[in-house]
Amino acid sequence: MHSFLKNLEEVLKTYLKETYLPPHRAKTPGWNFHDLRFFSKGAEMLSTAFTEGRSELPKNYFNKKEFRSAYLLYFVLINAAKIWKCLEEVSFLLKKSPLKILDLGCGPGTAALTCSYFFKDRPLEILGLEQNPGIAKDAKNLWEKVRSPEQRLFIKTESFHPRHKSLKKLLDGKKFDVAIAANILSELSFQDQRHLITELLDNSKMLIVVEPALQKITRDLMSLRDKVVQDKQAQVIAPCLHQQNCPMLAFNQRDWCHFYIDWKCPVLIRQVDDIIRNRHDYLKMAYMIFRSPLFTIHCPQSSSNTWRVVSSPLISKGKRELVLCGDCGHLKKIDRLDKDKTPQNSGFDYMSRGDIMEWSGTSRVERENHIKVLKKF
Ligand SMILES: C[S@@+](CC[C@H](N)C(=O)[O-])C[C@H]1O[C@@H](n2cnc3c(N)ncnc32)[C@H](O)[C@@H]1O
Repeated sequence: MHSFLKNLEEVLKTYLKETYLPPHRAKTPGWNFHDLRFFSKGAEMLSTAFTEGRSELPKNYFNKKEFRSAYLLYFVLINAAKIWKCLEEVSFLLKKSPLKILDLGCGPGTAALTCSYFFKDRPLEILGLEQNPGIAKDAKNLWEKVRSPEQRLFIKTESFHPRHKSLKKLLDGKKFDVAIAANILSELSFQDQRHLITELLDNSKMLIVVEPALQKITRDLMSLRDKVVQDKQAQVIAPCLHQQNCPMLAFNQRDWCHFYIDWKCPVLIRQVDDIIRNRHDYLKMAYMIFRSPLFTIHCPQSSSNTWRVVSSPLISKGKRELVLCGDCGHLKKIDRLDKDKTPQNSGFDYMSRGDIMEWSGTSRVERENHIKVLKKF
């Protein structure tokens, strides 16, 4: 992922400078503090709007070039890293070539650009659907700078209306191997989210949803997931390892299922963070990956001893605890007393949120227990 982000960072910097800086500034070589400041104001406003509420943001915010450029500067790399992480989880199921991909609400083509790098040198046919012509143009321009020869992106600059089931018509009856809906549900009402997910599952084999890890947005996504699974519309492949109702949603009204990506923060993001007093040492994300009935390839099912860590390590005096979510649809808290730490169970110290482990013991890790980490997040 690191080399992908480094390449994309350079592409974005060059593009921003030649497209969005006034001509006399675009001629100066490299990036300086004034260039960064020029774009950072919009980044700060978008960041506040995306995390604290959008009332200050115009409805079609990408009509303003300040917001389009700020999104390119600050959000594309962050969202691309999250989409990359999702692709890593399911790439073993995506052997077919060429892949047909839908990037819904594509904005500057964040998912398309990520897929181009992730599936480098594989033939891809990507359809981007985007209502805003300005950002759709950016998507087309950026795509031409990164794509491999056999990869095609076609962008439809139109708006879909989930309540009126308009997506099918917009897709011209095409079916997709993967549909990616990144940071789009949070722009819709809960009812519209439900309609949209149904339409996407009707038209794609696999659906990847990525959202900011905010409490309300994520709990809505957890509720949507329960409805999809209850109605047997699709199976959830990740992050859940089971097809029961979400135990975290039922447990209380507070917690939300989210994960942290440990990344090497790109220099550009750090520079903007310094100006707008933000930090991105790690990335928080919420995601959900579904497999629709159109997906006929066998998907390995996890065993009842397989658990995903859904909390950060809770460290208190004398012990370390983790919350696990497992195959039978339960949350389980396990701990290990510091005095019981042994070489066999030392893997417990390295388990963190998102990791998958095998565990058939009780709620306490004993001295002789062996900790088997199946997959690091
Ligand atoms: C927050 S941006 C996300 C862009 C991109 N998917 C990403 O993750 O970086 C949401 C995008 O969805 C587009 N959008 C929102 N509602 C839409 C609709 N009904 N039809 C088409 N595009 C829509 C917006 O114009 C915007 O470009």
